[in-house]
Amino acid sequence: MNESFAQDVLNGLSAKNKHLSSKYFYDDNGSRIFQEIMNMPEYYPTDAEFEILSMQSKQIINELQFSTPFNIIELGAGDGFKTFKLLDYLVKNEIEVNYIPIDISQEAIEILTKSLKERLPTLKIQPKVGDYFKILQNSKDSEYPSLLLFLGGNIGNYLEEKSIELLKLFNKNMKVGDKLLIGLDLKKNPIVVHNAYFDKHGITKRFNLNLLLRINRELDADFKIDDFDFYSYYNPVTGDVKSYIVSLREQSVEIKALNRTFNFGYNELIWTELSKKYDIDEITNLAKATNFKLNKNFLDCKHYFADSLWEKP
Ligand code: TRP
Repeated sequence: MNESFAQDVLNGLSAKNKHLSSKYFYDDNGSRIFQEIMNMPEYYPTDAEFEILSMQSKQIINELQFSTPFNIIELGAGDGFKTFKLLDYLVKNEIEVNYIPIDISQEAIEILTKSLKERLPTLKIQPKVGDYFKILQNSKDSEYPSLLLFLGGNIGNYLEEKSIELLKLFNKNMKVGDKLLIGLDLKKNPIVVHNAYFDKHGITKRFNLNLLLRINRELDADFKIDDFDFYSYYNPVTGDVKSYIVSLREQSVEIKALNRTFNFGYNELIWTELSKKYDIDEITNLAKATNFKLNKNFLDCKHYFADSLWEKP
């Protein structure tokens, strides 16, 4: 049994306002459903960031001002679909890099590695499965400069305090002159955001309810997922999207691995995710607050998304 998963489920479902962390969405099943989300026309972040990396790889690489070779360390690489454009540019221009994709899903990393070996056979790739920080610490010893990639807007999934903590930790594990390219989803027409996070196909609902199935499987529980629904809303003032699982009736669920039964009220909520949207001022402040120097923001043509390049001074 996965101890920290069990502990987090226990804490989250014992809290007055129940919550479950979205980081547990991404088991192999969840990672597969997330691929489906990324393929929906309404889920703009993937397309927007893909456009940035397709159209502006040259500008991004020039802005690094790195001597070669250098490391590209991708935190949460997933299927690496977007990063392909950047890597493709490097290979085509014979810029020598060592690509180190890291993900917690073994399956995602295997698929990524296989496809990259086929599509970019000359690329040097060192895939890793596991915890970002252990791997980051090792890269600090590298004699070469490193570009860290934290794409997809993942940072928006952390509460403000936690996001600052995380970025400071990245900073601490970087060498002076190393760079971070960080994806941040921008504030935009609220209807666009709403449609991406509360999709009419029900894929995001399935993605959230998959977490209950994971608890059933890994912690020997008896969630009946037909008795739960999904709700999400966007606050365009704060930029917060908040997602919830909703209990459709009064019910109790036994989680055998925790030796506990949890009661859910009629319409009781389980908070699953925050997905914060930023404006440019907030990005500037976030870089400052975490001891980075902002080099440049790269935006897509609709200004939906930013890949922001930061430097450890
Ligand atoms: N974390 C990603 C995001 O913020 C993935 C995601 C999309 C997501 N929709 C979601 C996570 C709904 C939880 C709930 O874009």
